[in-house]
Amino acid sequence: MVSRFVKPEDRARVEDVRFQLASRSLAGKVVLVPGGTGGLGSCLVALLLAERAVPVAGYRSNRERAERIKSLLESKLGGTVHLVEGDLREEHVRRHYLAEAARHTGSIDGMACFVGDPARVPSDSLTADDLARSCATNFIAPVLLAKAVGEQMIARKVSGSLVLLSSMQGVAAFENSLNYAAPKAALIHANRVLAKEWSGQSVQVNVVAPGATVAGMAASSVSSGKYDRYIEQGAVSRFGQPEDIARAVRFLLEPDCYITGQVLLVDGGMGLRA
Ligand SMILES: NC(=O)c1ccc[n+]([C@@H]2O[C@H](COP(=O)([O-])OP(=O)(O)OC[C@H]3O[C@@H](n4cnc5c(N)ncnc54)[C@H](OP(=O)(O)O)[C@@H]3O)[C@@H](O)[C@H]2O)c1
Repeated sequence: MVSRFVKPEDRARVEDVRFQLASRSLAGKVVLVPGGTGGLGSCLVALLLAERAVPVAGYRSNRERAERIKSLLESKLGGTVHLVEGDLREEHVRRHYLAEAARHTGSIDGMACFVGDPARVPSDSLTADDLARSCATNFIAPVLLAKAVGEQMIARKVSGSLVLLSSMQGVAAFENSLNYAAPKAALIHANRVLAKEWSGQSVQVNVVAPGATVAGMAASSVSSGKYDRYIEQGAVSRFGQPEDIARAVRFLLEPDCYITGQVLLVDGGMGLRA
């Protein structure tokens, strides 16, 4: 018996070791990067520019930083960083991001959502308002945006991948992290549900969970020495760099990625010791 789902040309190709190892598979493709002006997101935008993709970097309100990142990256790498501004907690802003990204080629080919709020509140003074605020940015906005982008890609028959940014704190339990970690853990579950709902479709969705990285919102706490004991005790050899995260996100952004509904912990092993 021969499966009708195995193409004869694929069998012949594999026998001839004619593997399809295309590099730059995102060249010319539009990738929406909400939070692409931040410490980690800007490194993915750099990687996309180097690959000749079309990055559309979103930010909430810090236009000065966004313009500075855009001009630095364009002068170093060439290409254009398209900027889109607005607070993704608002539905009309999510629609605006979609429209801005789709206007370049008529479709969005992928998305990596770096939007997040460190939501630092000690557990003993945590209020309902604190939790609601953290949920709004760390869970609700990325989930609803992913849903909108994924549904648009499926409707337009675009094959591509979405990546959501959680945290090692959403995977492993760290003390005093309730306000930040719980919505980040919920994001991982939403990712699995979305992947299941979209199974058999052209869109994959996955999560990258960074550890203690020297850039972005963790820079000050990492610099303060809070995580030094993990290196001193040999749990990790070093802190994370933005390139560690960008490479993992890029890997999962592959247009025909054969991975969906998964979480990739990029923490050098720190979460194993938490
Ligand atoms: N840095 C780390 O080591 C680390 C570790 C674990 C997880 N993470 C996660 O990785 C992601 C990226 O972190 P990062 O360190 O790069 O953050 P970051 O430097 O603080 O940058 C955050 C980016 O998101 C934008 N943003 C924030 N809230 C927004 C909103 N409501 N609507 C639209 N844009 C919004 C910011 O725009 P403005 O500049 O205009 O505010 C900025 O572009 C986050 O989800 C974070 O939780 C980071």
